[in-house]
Amino acid sequence: MEHKMHYTISTRGLLTGFMVLILSARTPTLAVDIYTEAEVMVANGMACVLRCTFESNEVVSSYITVAWSFQSNQPDNQFSKAPYAIFYFSDGKAFPPPKEFKDRVQFIGDINKKDVSIQLNPAQFSDNGTYFCDVKNPPDVKSTPARTELRVVSRESLPLGYTAVIVRMVCGVLALLLLILVAVCIVI
Ligand SMILES: *[C@@H]1O[C@H](CO)[C@@H](O)[C@H](O)[C@H]1NC(C)=O
Repeated sequence: MEHKMHYTISTRGLLTGFMVLILSARTPTLAVDIYTEAEVMVANGMACVLRCTFESNEVVSSYITVAWSFQSNQPDNQFSKAPYAIFYFSDGKAFPPPKEFKDRVQFIGDINKKDVSIQLNPAQFSDNGTYFCDVKNPPDVKSTPARTELRVVSRESLPLGYTAVIVRMVCGVLALLLLILVAVCIVI
């Protein structure tokens, strides 16, 4: 009797799990979903990473196309009229970027992990503007490019260095621990 009940419960659990699995696997993708950081700030002359990841229910194949393009926000910049391709990867090959970005753009992603991030090194004031990341993963070719606003600033105007951020974080954690300790002492 007891044994039978146990059996029924586990069968039901298994069936539910199986149905959830089927339902989630059957959800169709309508497009490639692309994700970037909305804004990245970098000091002039330093390296910066423009992150981009994507999701697609199709298997990542050798037909994948990755395009990063740049549009300057300075009207007198040659890249201000429309987004210009600065990194283009198609058919398993990367195509050379325009000379302004040559030797400064490096692919640092891992396509099999759906990461198509690039690094810009060194960043220059003229790189200030909008970067678009676009991925097509045939037959999944519908996509909306994701964008990142890159702000290239002078070193002095960067809000806080990493060291200062870490010091502040440590101070914050210590203060919190102290507060908890005081609270515990009062309660006890
Ligand atoms: C960079 O772009 C921002 C707007 O995104 C603007 O406020 C800033 O003045 C620009 N800086 C330079 C050096 O062009």
